[in-house]
Amino acid sequence: MLKEVSENLEPQAGGYFVDGTLGGAGYTLTLAQAVGDSGRVLAIDLDETAIDNARDLIASNKIKNIVLVQDNFRNLTEIVHKNFGAEVQLDGVVLDLGLSSVQVDEASRGFSFLKTAPLSLAFDKRETKDAAYLVNNLSERDLLKILNVYGEEPFAFRIVKNIINARKVKEIETTTELADIVSQSVPAAIRRKKIHPATKTFQALRLAVNQELESLEVALPQAIKLLKPGGRLAVVSFHSLEDRIVKNFFKDQAKTCICPPEVMICNCHHEPIVRIITKKALIPSEAEVQFNPRARSAKLRVVQKN
Ligand SMILES: C[S@@+](CC[C@H](N)C(=O)[O-])C[C@H]1O[C@@H](n2cnc3c(N)ncnc32)[C@H](O)[C@@H]1O
Repeated sequence: MLKEVSENLEPQAGGYFVDGTLGGAGYTLTLAQAVGDSGRVLAIDLDETAIDNARDLIASNKIKNIVLVQDNFRNLTEIVHKNFGAEVQLDGVVLDLGLSSVQVDEASRGFSFLKTAPLSLAFDKRETKDAAYLVNNLSERDLLKILNVYGEEPFAFRIVKNIINARKVKEIETTTELADIVSQSVPAAIRRKKIHPATKTFQALRLAVNQELESLEVALPQAIKLLKPGGRLAVVSFHSLEDRIVKNFFKDQAKTCICPPEVMICNCHHEPIVRIITKKALIPSEAEVQFNPRARSAKLRVVQKN
């Protein structure tokens, strides 16, 4: 949703922006071009490959206004203060959540259950508690919780039972080993559907390995605090759990009254912290979905700091 993000962040020459999810650097490069030599874009990613690829791109194009940092955007304030100074007030922040096409396509990262690879699912290759660790070490109860809460998987109980049985015989090491266990745990009618039966299990484990929802919850208030008045925060999410966090946080920050419910007439004189720019989440154009089917579930929400 590059066009929509850019239109809503309105980057101007001299602006200071943070792209908390560098990925393939599409958003970062667009922002960098708009802010010009007098502006700066701080681009963060947990993934070393994303940082390395962007470093090459920046060097070969002699771009001077992008700062790359391999870190978790949950440490946003610290990263921004370290690189832009403690006094900086940002013009905009963007978070384009989830995983990048580069990560899905790189079979060795284990994000796709269609190709055999080590069962990692970690954005940060240094992560030791990856998906293989979780499926082989967590208790039945904890695995069930992950599949139920993060995957909303209706067959969680049977899948987890079969994981526990399988790991008693041999450690589950690869993507396809796990995908096969999941496939064997669901009814035949589900196996015949277009969507692979392991989709929800892999999503749930990915969210757990990378603590994605927790990082988002921690980063949102920091982003708002770092913005200057009039600065904007744009978040692109890809599933309902993420979108709910963003939507509720934005609603909360935009509240005009924070009186307790028993107070009949507002007396709090509370000033809303942000104004919601996207009353309804923006979704990608048909053309974008046709070009990139993975974008089909994207939702963009934007707020402006008062
Ligand atoms: C959807 S992609 C971003 C795509 C990017 N907007 C582009 O133009 O190519 C998300 C990226 O965010 C990174 N990421 C996800 N969670 C992160 C976190 N908590 N901290 C830092 N990077 C994160 C992933 O490694 C991935 O590269």
